[in-house]
Amino acid sequence: MALYSEKVMDHFRNPRNVGVIEDADGVGEVGNAKCGDIMKIYLKIKDDTIDDVKFETFGCGSAIASSSMATELIKGKPVSDALKLTNQAVTEALDGLPAHKLHCSVLAEEAIKAAMKDYYDRHGIAYDESQFPAGHDCEHCGV
Ligand code: FES
Repeated sequence: MALYSEKVMDHFRNPRNVGVIEDADGVGEVGNAKCGDIMKIYLKIKDDTIDDVKFETFGCGSAIASSSMATELIKGKPVSDALKLTNQAVTEALDGLPAHKLHCSVLAEEAIKAAMKDYYDRHGIAYDESQFPAGHDCEHCGV
């Protein structure tokens, strides 16, 4: 079996939703201290729905494919769905990632959550802090 699924290769070669939203309602940036990769997500939110989403990822192919797939999974969805997106869902939608690349999909989940938190903060919307755990522990994720 090839190391990377066709979906991973497709989203790596032709990433969807790459770019910047200048007047974004929420922006989230996360990085992995070990590999040095950085992911930034921009959200435009209208009527409690993800009206638009874009990303910039400076990182490995799996991180690019994960950001591309994650943006596809939340675009047009209610914000409540975006908040529930897990790295497992991103990985499954990509037909899997090699075990040592799973942390790349974690970056996508975290970047979306960080952008949602920024949206709530900017708009003075109350939220449950426990929805936004303080990042995963890179030391133990086996980068
Ligand atoms: Fe750093 Fe994939 S996100 S190696």
